[in-house]
Amino acid sequence: VDAIIHDIVEMQRRADEERTQGRRIAVVPTMGALHEGHGALIRTACMWADVVVTTVFVNPTQFGPGEDFARYPRDLQRDAAFAEAAGCNILFAPAAESMYPAGFCTHVDVERLGAVLEGKSRPGHFRGVLTVVTKLLLITRPHVAVFGQKDAQQVVLVRQMLRDLNFGVDLVVVPIVREADGLALSSRNAYLSAGERLEATVLYRALQQAESAIRGGERVSAAVIGAMRRLIEETSSGVIDYISIADARSLRELSRIPTRSPVLVSLAVRFGETRLIDNLFLTL
Ligand code: PAF
Repeated sequence: VDAIIHDIVEMQRRADEERTQGRRIAVVPTMGALHEGHGALIRTACMWADVVVTTVFVNPTQFGPGEDFARYPRDLQRDAAFAEAAGCNILFAPAAESMYPAGFCTHVDVERLGAVLEGKSRPGHFRGVLTVVTKLLLITRPHVAVFGQKDAQQVVLVRQMLRDLNFGVDLVVVPIVREADGLALSSRNAYLSAGERLEATVLYRALQQAESAIRGGERVSAAVIGAMRRLIEETSSGVIDYISIADARSLRELSRIPTRSPVLVSLAVRFGETRLIDNLFLTL
């Protein structure tokens, strides 16, 4: 990378300078522990902009009590080397004290959309995400922001926020990157024991089963969800948090699967201490 910037004002000045020179900026917001999923985001960002900024910030406000904030993997030098290899120009890695100085009290939230699915299981999570994404966009001043489809609800909420608050930032969404056996890449996969890692492929197998049932004509969501539940419970030790079939835009649960309207099949499953999520977008 050309630069690792820690200071907020220095990052804003650099972004202004790039804009003044007529260069387009893309930002890839991350919490570090970069893997090939992030690699795909950075490489996509390179196609949309002249300058790619990757932000690395383990945002404390999006973790609930008892979640993995303290043990979330952190290795900035490794992340810098990885980001550079993927084509990133600037790594922005602010300190928590500068992002949230004493007295910080402004938050961004979305009604309803942030209270379902992940938001229901992780109260306050999306308020933390949207507030930090707002700050990161105001600091890096991008033309384009690149997010992964892996966090499907985050994408829906960020899209809504960008529109509602007139950010003037284009959203680019990159498909999920998977291991050869189907497990979606996630920094949290590092927590899995060898046995859990093998069992974790059940998330993708359940999504594939759902897709073939739906494409095969099944329209009743409860039937699809019931079959996914059985597969997970009968073939793994995973504990299901939720399985959902919802409208991909409104995130409202669907009792029947419609045609010509995008559907989001999503699930969260716990293996020991590790909570994994995965999803599938589908339009009939
Ligand atoms: O997707 C993530 O890694 C985080 O939620 C984000 C967008 C970087 C905000 O902290």
